[in-house]
Amino acid sequence: MIEVRGLTKRYPGRTVSRNAVDGIDLDIPEGKLVTLLGPSGCGKTTTLRLIAGLERPDAGRIRIGDRLMCAPAEGVFVGVHQRPIGVVFQSYAVWPHMTAVQNVMFPLQSGQKRLPKAQARKRAMEALDLVGLAEFADRPAPALSGGQQQRVSLARALTREPEVLLLDEPLSNLDAGLRDRVRDEIRAVQLRLGITTVFVTHDQDEALAVSDEVIVMDSGRIVERGQAQDIYRCPKEEFTARFMGISNSLPGTVRTGAGEVAPADPADPGSPADPAATTDIADIDLAHGTLRCVTTGPTAAGDRVNVFIRPESLLLSRKDPSGRGWKGTVEFSIYHGDCWDYHVRVGDTLLRSRMYREKVGLTHGDPVFVVPEQDTAIAIPAAASEDAARERSALAAR
Ligand SMILES: Nc1ncnc2c1ncn2[C@@H]1O[C@H](COP(=O)(O)OP(=O)(O)OP(=O)(O)O)[C@@H](O)[C@H]1O
Ligand SMILES: [Mg+2]
Repeated sequence: MIEVRGLTKRYPGRTVSRNAVDGIDLDIPEGKLVTLLGPSGCGKTTTLRLIAGLERPDAGRIRIGDRLMCAPAEGVFVGVHQRPIGVVFQSYAVWPHMTAVQNVMFPLQSGQKRLPKAQARKRAMEALDLVGLAEFADRPAPALSGGQQQRVSLARALTREPEVLLLDEPLSNLDAGLRDRVRDEIRAVQLRLGITTVFVTHDQDEALAVSDEVIVMDSGRIVERGQAQDIYRCPKEEFTARFMGISNSLPGTVRTGAGEVAPADPADPGSPADPAATTDIADIDLAHGTLRCVTTGPTAAGDRVNVFIRPESLLLSRKDPSGRGWKGTVEFSIYHGDCWDYHVRVGDTLLRSRMYREKVGLTHGDPVFVVPEQDTAIAIPAAASEDAARERSALAAR
């Protein structure tokens, strides 16, 4: 496992006087794949490089297994080659003058614990086999596709049997179809080896697809962490909701406070509540009507909230038999192949609706009813999100 406490890094000579990594705590459990997810510049790569020993922190401690890797206050720093890690970067960093197997053998034949050539080749072949590339072993690296080169660098990272695998945007140089294949392969290899892995990405779909746990970062800090389905279904922070693509946000007021706290085990209503997983349902008054929403914490009648609604949870209809529709006008639509995105003006608000099932055939200027799905929108206390926003802008100004 990896344990990080109070990790802080400031790059020298930066004009913006803000920490690239700002006092983060992390626990990555043994054998799990955890993603660091966040926008460009939020400190993902810096965190990974600190764990790898490619950067020195200004403060904090990093432990891998039972060994302390760095603690500047105690003068401890274990160099990158002494850490039990394998690293894969976005740029494959495959050596072009070598074959696939020579690339994978290289770490085994350098450094202090050098293996004899035959033994190194055997180990390298096992690693290539693991990533499905045994038949390409003797191909020159430049004659491999991008996806194959990235798998060579994965094999190279694994060949010394590290305790921890660190992956920094390993898929972002690959084109769309290949990205999914290599992503699934990385996850399969990780599960097969049961290797503790930190996976850095700015792509929320990628994070949801591969992770045991997702850690959302912003401005050098951790915003929230949770299992992929919880982060997707019920983000607790406004930042996460926006980052996960929940683009419709409406201010509202709680009409009836949240009811019972969700039990820890949904299959057993009698099980005691898990406060960390508390989600509730409450009726929220919005400008256009009342909506039953999932809440992220205790709420009382009259509390102000921001309601986040996914585009796919806003259905469009020419008629409104349910009487729950919000009357609006289509501004424009975008066709994506598997779905249509409609931008609909309702009062002063522009809402985005995504329709998968059928072409509604609506065009610019058409009147339409927006029917929000019950129990899927997320109500986040306005005070909490305002506090978080204030804290973040204060941090950015530092
Ligand atoms: N070598 C460096 N010198 C100075 N500043 C740096 C250096 N590397 C990163 N930074 C700054 O530190 C902050 C965090 O950068 P980092 O590379 O960790 O972000 P990231 O989350 O990996 O972003 P991306 O998704 O774009 O890769 C950014 O503001 C960046 O400009
Ligand atoms: Mg990065």
